Amino acid sequence: AVIGLAASHAPAQQPAAPTSPTPPKPLTEDGGQPVGNNQNSRTAGPNGPVLLDNFHLIQKLARFDRERIPERVVHARGVGAHGEFVSYGDYSKYTKAKVFSAKDKKTPTFLRFSTVIHPNGSPDQLRDPRGFAVKFYTEEGNWDLVGNNLPVFFIRDAMKFPDMVHSLKPNPVNNQQEPARFFDFFSHIPESTHMLTFVYSDMGTPASLRQMDGFGVHAFKWVNEKGDVTYVKFNWRSLQGHKNYTAAEAAAASAKNHSGLTEDLYENIQAGNFPSWELGLQMMKPEDLDKFDFNPLDDTKVWPGIEEIKVGKLTLNKVPDNFFQFSEQAAFSPGMVVPGIEPSEDKMLQGRLFSYADTQRYRIGANYLDLPVNRPKAAVSNNSQDGALNHGGRSGDLNYEPSVRTGGRRDTTEKEYSKASLADQVVQQPIHKTLNFKQAGDLYLSFKEEEKANLISNLAGDMNKVKNEDVKKQMVAHFYLANADYGTRLAKAVSVSLRDVKALAEKTK
Ligand code: HEM
Repeated sequence: AVIGLAASHAPAQQPAAPTSPTPPKPLTEDGGQPVGNNQNSRTAGPNGPVLLDNFHLIQKLARFDRERIPERVVHARGVGAHGEFVSYGDYSKYTKAKVFSAKDKKTPTFLRFSTVIHPNGSPDQLRDPRGFAVKFYTEEGNWDLVGNNLPVFFIRDAMKFPDMVHSLKPNPVNNQQEPARFFDFFSHIPESTHMLTFVYSDMGTPASLRQMDGFGVHAFKWVNEKGDVTYVKFNWRSLQGHKNYTAAEAAAASAKNHSGLTEDLYENIQAGNFPSWELGLQMMKPEDLDKFDFNPLDDTKVWPGIEEIKVGKLTLNKVPDNFFQFSEQAAFSPGMVVPGIEPSEDKMLQGRLFSYADTQRYRIGANYLDLPVNRPKAAVSNNSQDGALNHGGRSGDLNYEPSVRTGGRRDTTEKEYSKASLADQVVQQPIHKTLNFKQAGDLYLSFKEEEKANLISNLAGDMNKVKNEDVKKQMVAHFYLANADYGTRLAKAVSVSLRDVKALAEKTK
């Protein structure tokens, strides 16, 4: 009998042994030489010692010793799949991006889902936002839309990101994730109230990667041939509907199979049950940016009341042949944009533009964009060269420009960014119109009673691990400012005085 962990993964029936096995390929060393004996080390006499001239043994061990690369500093646990994006129309009135230039235009894609904080190999059902990163291999190079399954984020300035992640990651002393540390951080970050309300609802524990939405989160710019700018938000809407676990269901599912969401994705794609998402687009004219009670370039906000039009559909239709080569070596970056799509001024997004390619040069290596999963389908031609693990693709001696041989300086207007006027002072300060709590309150009010009850109990589950009463009260004050009922119920669930909470709320608002 199979016992323990393996039991849940044991196939119901052992596959029948093939009647005529295909002869295995001859075994070779890494240099292509035939391997004589792959079972026994070469020794002086039957017991040993082992001889240094056993090159194959040493190569085999040394190669094994180098199998791991650093895991992503965030979003380490993930899974990806190949797919295709189809545009619903010709949107050239708003963007010159070729992906959106014609009805039924097809663009190959790779999508990677992930959890954010937990390490590679952790249960994929744990509470966390889910990464939803899409790479479009367009004819004008790669466009990466590196989003999450929740429409907003915890913070609005890249300066805070490393501190936030440190508070959420395990304690550097005892290697344990501690709500006392991250609630301490968030008690100073009122703008996190909206995102925390999402993460501690059951949307923080999706039951299937196929049954959740995805969001670009930030505002981006669509730019047409004339240089006209439209601010846009990208929202992926699941055509499989939505399904979340309660906290208890997520715990039970991860105890049964800690790769349950990965398994669900692979099984469905392999069975031909291809999941798909429609790409919803919200648009805003630059002159309207100042017309709201919030800042539309603030990534802690959704754009309520702005119509969402559907501009295309993404379908996942193939799982990679090799997990490491595709899901692990995939490198997405918000800086990978194509003509017609630009980052907005959102300062959080601006920080991200630096961070991704930087970590990828460290995590994978200088030539990471030449790997099959990252390599653009468009031709690459520039003067970057050499570096570790370079395997060609660039030839000739002309590795500089301008040159008489290319007719002097080349025309670079293709990738020119839209014009934007900068007429302000250099400052280092928070944004105007913070509106930290209102949208969190609106979200709370949109929940059914059962969803509200789960949100309170999920939050209380972690907040009750916080010993510092001041941290607890300040956190409850934020939720109270979002909605009085929300804060009142939470105060009760975490046993803090509602009077103290109200006093803190008064001071905070
Ligand atoms: C992954 C940094 C905010 C979504 C990463 C990685 C870094 C990073 C360093 C690892 C990349 C790699 O190793 O390939 C940052 C910084 C942020 C930020 C500095 C804020 C300033 C966000 C936000 C979102 C997001 C707001 C969602 C809109 C993702 C996703 C991945 C990721 C989906 C995983 C991509 C993959 O599957 O490979 N982030 N991040 N991040 N981030 Fe962020």
